[in-house]
Amino acid sequence: MDLCTCLPVYMNGNNMEFKITLLPGDGIGPEVASEAVRVLDVIARKYNHTFEYKERLVGGCSIDKYGSSLTDETLADCQAADAILLGAVGGPKWDDPSAKDRPERGLLALRKGLGLFANLRPVKVHPALVDASPLKPERLQGVDILVVRELTGGLYFGQKIRDTKDGCERAVDTLEYFDYEIRRIVELAFNLAKGRKKRVTSVDKANVLESSRLWRQIAAQVGRANPDIQLEHALVDSTAMKLVTAPASMDVVVTENMFGDILTDEASVLAGSMGMLPSASLSEAGVGLYEPIHGSAPDIAGKGIANPIGTILSAALMLRYSLKLEEEAAFIEKAVDQTITTGARTADLGGKLTTRQMADEIIEQL
Ligand code: IPM
Ligand code: MG
Repeated sequence: MDLCTCLPVYMNGNNMEFKITLLPGDGIGPEVASEAVRVLDVIARKYNHTFEYKERLVGGCSIDKYGSSLTDETLADCQAADAILLGAVGGPKWDDPSAKDRPERGLLALRKGLGLFANLRPVKVHPALVDASPLKPERLQGVDILVVRELTGGLYFGQKIRDTKDGCERAVDTLEYFDYEIRRIVELAFNLAKGRKKRVTSVDKANVLESSRLWRQIAAQVGRANPDIQLEHALVDSTAMKLVTAPASMDVVVTENMFGDILTDEASVLAGSMGMLPSASLSEAGVGLYEPIHGSAPDIAGKGIANPIGTILSAALMLRYSLKLEEEAAFIEKAVDQTITTGARTADLGGKLTTRQMADEIIEQL
């Protein structure tokens, strides 16, 4: 097969066209997503690319309009795209625990439906933001962590039961992994470590969980096959502690779905605000999905004060991983860096800039 036919890029002279499905979602999602699109528009003009957007609903807004948090049509539009950019899903309006559908189900169905097994969450500390973190400045020096969170298995996707047993209400969640699910995520972590400090911390709870013992066994196998990478096994509870006591000692961290969810919220404290952190969700061969790690922040939704940086940096990851536009990705990251250096701050970082003004500052740097 001609290799070019598998590339998700359509050449038209020098102009490259990319199809992006945009899923702004709920709460602050639409506010931050539209700023990321403005940044992408600047990139498109500067580098002569065409980004063609299809905007679709996911989460609570999709429940309201279609009665489902993710429709088959939206999933198909995501499948057909070169990449997906998502804002956030959820909100108190859809929080009824007895509801049949929830906004979060839409996001999980999207991750599963697209086979997005790998969630990359880079955590870096900008030197100008060390004061925004509650941690001692000396602990934050040199922090550069990449959390690789397994995203389509583990506790989120195992069998669930809700019933009555022996006269008592009962609920069951199951943490299940097949060896191949562990192997592919750990191998990806090792590959990513090759371009970094060559250290992988595989995080589990092997002293208690059977699934973690399989995780550790597979991680050790992958470790033996990659002697150039230093592998360390760590328990999730002690990792939670190390993240705030010695974060600079960590490089690539690979872990189970829910462990990764919890550890990355904790790690976001290092960066000064959850609003700063992007993520990339990748599948084996197909499309990638890019979203900030923060949620829909209903408390500030509609006020125009959310930090758009997590989404703008997610758009940069989209350029890097899905569209293979490394130079453009690095260009956005540099502009964000410089913007922070100049002192631009949204409310989460102790400043007064609105979402739009923060994006304006970044565009100015571009
Ligand atoms: C995240 C979020 C989601 C998750 C929620 C919204 C389902 O917390 O992306 O970290 O738990 O994965
Ligand atoms: Mg989370």
